[in-house]
Amino acid sequence: MRIVLVGPPGAGKGTQAAFLAKNLSIPHISTGDLFRANISKQTELGKLAKSYMDRGELVPDEVTIAMAKDRMEQPDAENGFLLDGFPRNVSQAEALDEMLKSEGMKLDAVLDLEVPEEEVVKRIAGRRICRNDSSHVFHVSYKAPKQEGVCDVCGGELYQRDDDSEETVRKRLEVYHTQTEPIIDYYKAQGLVVTISALGKVEDVTARSMEALQRGE
Ligand code: AP5
Ligand code: ZN
Repeated sequence: MRIVLVGPPGAGKGTQAAFLAKNLSIPHISTGDLFRANISKQTELGKLAKSYMDRGELVPDEVTIAMAKDRMEQPDAENGFLLDGFPRNVSQAEALDEMLKSEGMKLDAVLDLEVPEEEVVKRIAGRRICRNDSSHVFHVSYKAPKQEGVCDVCGGELYQRDDDSEETVRKRLEVYHTQTEPIIDYYKAQGLVVTISALGKVEDVTARSMEALQRGE
């Protein structure tokens, strides 16, 4: 299956993607995680991306699309993938369509995670991620690590993301409404959107997502 996950910052895309990718045996491709890995390795791409991410703005399309394309062309993505955080505006969605069309492929579904803004703010304020791998995600009250400040998965140090400050989160939400939400209508026109509530326990949201994806088939 080829799936796009969409939802505001802090909706739980990364959290759900980890379970859904495992259940569906497809790789989880997160452009945010790919940028953060580049930042850790201090690559040129990482330096460029950080300057935009710290302001809560989108990284320019050209580099983002090239990075996503490169990842989607890896052998493990041949039979499907779960995209998290890409596409993030209509031009990225059009580029993805072109990319898939040229390979004779298409998307199966766009899973839209709905969460009220006040819940998103609580989720982001308490989020802690691992220095070794930004896909290891915790929350101080909703998903507390066994030992404070230490990753349950790999023992790495947990920290708060630089772009999780109140001011940057406000900007990221504004960017989501103005630039990312329009892709929902773009995909609705293709009959691909399945919307679910992302409120409640993590496992309940996963069950709801799996059911919606099966229904959408
Ligand atoms: P990215 O990393 O994609 O961030 P985002 O979309 O803002 O999403 P988040 O990672 O903040 O949240 P999430 O929905 O994954 O939630 P999570 O599972 O962590 O992008 C960051 C930046 O990179 C962008 O601002 C941009 O600059 C750049 N970028 C990335 N892609 C780009 C693109 N395509 N084009 C251009 N620029 C791009 O959950 C949040 C918290 O809630 C966690 O603590 C979690 O434990 C908790 N939680 C999750 N589910 C639940 C639940 N059901 N109940 C209670 N708590 C929960
Ligand atoms: Zn870790």
